[in-house]
Amino acid sequence: MTDTTKSATLTIGDKTYELPIYSPTAGPDVVDIRKLYGTAGVFTYDPGFTSTASCDSTITFIDGDKGILLHRGYPIDQLAEKSHYLEVCYLLMNGELPDAAALEDFETRITRHTMVHEQMHNFFRGFRRDAHPMATMVGVVGAMSAFYHDSTDINDEWQREVAAMRLIAKVPTIAAMAYKYSIGQPFVYPRNDLDYASNFLHMCFSVPAEEYHVDPILSRAMDRIFTLHADHEQNASTSTVRLASSSGANPFACIAAGIACLWGPAHGGANQACLEMLKEIGTPDRIPEFIGRAKDKNDPFRLMGFGHRVYKNFDPRATVMKQSADEVLDLLGIEDNPILQVAKELERQALEDPYFADKKLFPNVDFYSGIILEAMGFPTSMFTPIFAVSRTVGWVSQWKEMIADPQNKIGRPRQLYLGETQRDYVDIEKR
Ligand code: CMC
Repeated sequence: MTDTTKSATLTIGDKTYELPIYSPTAGPDVVDIRKLYGTAGVFTYDPGFTSTASCDSTITFIDGDKGILLHRGYPIDQLAEKSHYLEVCYLLMNGELPDAAALEDFETRITRHTMVHEQMHNFFRGFRRDAHPMATMVGVVGAMSAFYHDSTDINDEWQREVAAMRLIAKVPTIAAMAYKYSIGQPFVYPRNDLDYASNFLHMCFSVPAEEYHVDPILSRAMDRIFTLHADHEQNASTSTVRLASSSGANPFACIAAGIACLWGPAHGGANQACLEMLKEIGTPDRIPEFIGRAKDKNDPFRLMGFGHRVYKNFDPRATVMKQSADEVLDLLGIEDNPILQVAKELERQALEDPYFADKKLFPNVDFYSGIILEAMGFPTSMFTPIFAVSRTVGWVSQWKEMIADPQNKIGRPRQLYLGETQRDYVDIEKR
């Protein structure tokens, strides 16, 4: 944060207040209102935090108007093309790209942490078979704090590091186990000779009865999905992780809170909701009906996979994801897939419609990721768990940054109270 000589003047009645303004390295200036309540006795009002910077951070930068997403300064399209997920994890966590030795060490440490405590298998069996894998993940990731006591002390830097590694390494195993459990197949142990993405596909799709070969194009597409979802600044689930952690809660409980928040259809649940919507549309001739519903003020229906709180011209992740979708569908030879045809035609018609253009609603990353995951053979219920696997590194990096920040305070927003003022209790017989 750079201190500048700039300040804002706020006038309330006949009093004026000078509020400092700070300039970031990129993005809009921020007005520091921290002392406002103490001096002027007012709160600011910003439901949904549309104009509020909740923290300072050096991890990820987004310019929503220009469609820019940078991790530690590196553009997402360069990372998606030239890097790979575990290198991006190192970058997010440590601030710089690793040299070859540091990367090898990091990959080895992540790989060596991929197995979960054997007793966790019993824990899974307590869930109903038909439980949504996200429900299972919220429970099992939260339960990690009951298994890994030696990495729950947030004041110990080494324990924080171990917890971070454990989460990045074990959340894919837990997601794959949730999937296997839901389809009644045996859990598949991780394999240390496979890269992160291939290992995840192996844990999801292999069965003990036969050998499973991971196709390198599918593994690359999986790695890209992980990379493109790795972090996204102070989004709803990341802010949830930060808020949960601000009370001093342990990292496993905080990441479980992030997973719970991610589940919602306006956030990570959009990829599942998007594919279900495409299936419901069914055939291209029904698209105008659904576009009409999305535009109707009296209908709560929205086109899932369209729009973003921050990106108002295009989602840079969607551009890369679209290329990946083409590659995967080409590889699998499923050009004639009806869902894909609906998706392509819906994208075309929505982009030509003035409603979507005027409101700056474009396909987001989840519009295309669902198409790839469906083509790979994942059921829709696994789409959001895969998002959770990818985003774990973002949550963990933001959590580590926050704990190390000496300014870290418990998060405690205030409110605009519109309820009853004080009144006396009325005995039940008099109500
Ligand atoms: N379909 C139809 N209309 C929409 C849509 C949509 N998908 N998204 C926004 N609008 C309209 C909305 O009705 C509103 O219209 P009006 O100004 O007339 O009231 C206007 O656009 C602005 O919408 P908003 O809800 O105020 O915008 P927001 O920034 O609060 O919401 C959003 C962003 C992502 C929640 C929203 O666009 C949405 O619900 N999209 C569908 C769900 C989705 O795809 N989510 C995934 C986001 S990307 C993955 C992630 O990062 O989590």
